[in-house]
Amino acid sequence: MTSILMVCLGNICRSPLAHGLLESKLPSNRFYVDSAGTANYHVGDAPDPRSIAVAKTHNIDISKQQGRQFKVSDFDTFDYIYVMDQSNFENVIKLARNTNDMAKVKLILEVDTATLDKQVPDPYYGGNSGFENVFQLLDNATTIISLQLLN
Ligand code: 4NP
Repeated sequence: MTSILMVCLGNICRSPLAHGLLESKLPSNRFYVDSAGTANYHVGDAPDPRSIAVAKTHNIDISKQQGRQFKVSDFDTFDYIYVMDQSNFENVIKLARNTNDMAKVKLILEVDTATLDKQVPDPYYGGNSGFENVFQLLDNATTIISLQLLN
């Protein structure tokens, strides 16, 4: 089993979309996908209604996900840890115990050479168009990741 963790700040907007998208592109008997937030603001919460809605328009159901906080043992559980922005990167790297942990952490948009800005913008304080933009960025990135993993 290969395990992949998607990480953002709150685990209600961006990483639930990345989680649902990648999960939809990989066979569940060989891949485990999860998501977490670096903060504890939304532990136990469902994803933001705007993330649920944009996923639904693309036939992906993320409504059953529950927010949780990133923990140090995630470095043991997961083979790949994809973060949404530089701030997430720094928060996760701070918890790394060694270079092996550090090597697992990547900005998710680094996989997509077509994007210039490697940050997935936080859509929390914006409108619905921000969520569609995040969906498109993550749809492209998760397609590339799935092809890399399935090669
Ligand atoms: P996310 O967005 O990191 O993409 O889940 C946020 C959600 C909630 C908050 C910040 C960002 N918040 O401050 O509650």
